[in-house]
Amino acid sequence: MMFLNDLVTIDKAADTAVYLQIANAIIQAIRRGRLRSRSKLPGSRELANALNVHRKTTVAAYEELLAQGWLEMIPRKGTFVVQDLPEIKPRKLKQAETSVAYPEKTIFSIDEKRFVQFPALGFPDTKKLIINDGFPDMRLLPNELFLRELRSMGKQPAFKKYNMYGRAEGTDYLRDTLASFLRETRGLPISAANVMITRGAQMGIYMAASLLLKPGDQVIVGEPSYFAATLTFQQAGASINRVPVDESGLAIDAVERLCQTKKIRLLYVIPHHHHPTTVTLSPERRIRLLELAATYKFALIEDDYDYDFHYTSNPVLPMASLDHHGSVIYIGTLSKTLVPAIRIGFIVAPENFIKAVANLRMGIDRQGDSMMEVAIAELYRNGTIGRHIRKVVNIYRERRDHFSALLTENLGQRVSFRIPDGGMSVWTRFNYSDLRTVSAKAFQKGLIMSDGQRYNTGTINYNSARLGFASLNLAEQERAIDIIVKCL
Ligand SMILES: Cc1ncc(COP(=O)(O)O)c(C=O)c1O
Repeated sequence: MMFLNDLVTIDKAADTAVYLQIANAIIQAIRRGRLRSRSKLPGSRELANALNVHRKTTVAAYEELLAQGWLEMIPRKGTFVVQDLPEIKPRKLKQAETSVAYPEKTIFSIDEKRFVQFPALGFPDTKKLIINDGFPDMRLLPNELFLRELRSMGKQPAFKKYNMYGRAEGTDYLRDTLASFLRETRGLPISAANVMITRGAQMGIYMAASLLLKPGDQVIVGEPSYFAATLTFQQAGASINRVPVDESGLAIDAVERLCQTKKIRLLYVIPHHHHPTTVTLSPERRIRLLELAATYKFALIEDDYDYDFHYTSNPVLPMASLDHHGSVIYIGTLSKTLVPAIRIGFIVAPENFIKAVANLRMGIDRQGDSMMEVAIAELYRNGTIGRHIRKVVNIYRERRDHFSALLTENLGQRVSFRIPDGGMSVWTRFNYSDLRTVSAKAFQKGLIMSDGQRYNTGTINYNSARLGFASLNLAEQERAIDIIVKCL
């Protein structure tokens, strides 16, 4: 028995359960040869007394070791270390001892030029202040509620069915939940059959582009537009036609002129808060756009990535809520509603489109993470997500107002912007200073901000950036503006 007190140290404050601490210590002792194969272990009661823990704990530790195959129970004799330890010892492919370095490059060629280059996203883990493009404040997500939900669902036997392969369209539970949520909050006359769960909006854009576009197909986007969508259409071989964006959104007359001269296959629009300019497409233009889609029979991708974040009056309902004769592919995401790392988005479309896109998914992703989908559905159903949205909308409204006031008071004529009705950023044009220089100087002074290059389309240099106000509290905003002022 000496080994017990010697080898097993229990830390009751540790995160690892006590029975696992005991089991792990015994495994270590076996691995190090201090407990040899075929040696007998004390009974669970004896072990419990020696370690001063409850007997249930030592029984659980032994059960764990028996299940893993470290111990065996011999009837009427007791518990023993097994003869053949459950450790895999791979056989060498070659007898000679050679140490190899992993190759730096493939021996075969890769035609990287076949693919468009997406600008690297992701943010450095840095102490510097960051004004991002317009992302939510990670600090506000109620992580503990989210994890508690997963834990409590994990305990329910019915939850186990989600361990099996599921549907490419997503779990029915979340499709159904989202269908009612979108019916109630955005007026979409849909059922679960019209919903496909994706890993974020980008996957929806990618799959719609892959399904619809052949090389040479004509696509309309705004000037400017969301760069990642444009790149995705270009990747599919499409020819990009850009139409101006003014205070009322996409210029519909220009769309109509294009339709009269070219066979348009797809139009991409972000009507609620256009990316990057944040303008809202007016109701009149929405109706005209739907009429054009019906007349010229093109597909209309309505990217509604930040619908939940509107700060004035009532938001305009999506085009997908009207009778669109099957032209609209409506795309949404939880990247802004919750956080970008929870990769859940959705496509809403006529059933034939959902079926085709689900088939397409089978070749690359097969399905999403069912457990995450079910937990998210539960958080919608029990009201957690609704409460979170209401709470952060109030916080972001205050942050938007504070940030806009800071821009006016501190930067005056040196920038132009309009206060956005929604979203998480202010589209800010720098009137006299080159944004690349400002951004480089800001970096030296401890602030990371966009240099605006990704919005430039080749023909126009906007010298503008989306300055994300939502993820900075008021004091951080003041520090950021202070630095920008010093850089101008
Ligand atoms: C207009 C627009 N659409 C789609 C996306 C992509 O969102 P997701 O993270 O859901 O892929 C973004 C991300 O910022 C966006 O701005």
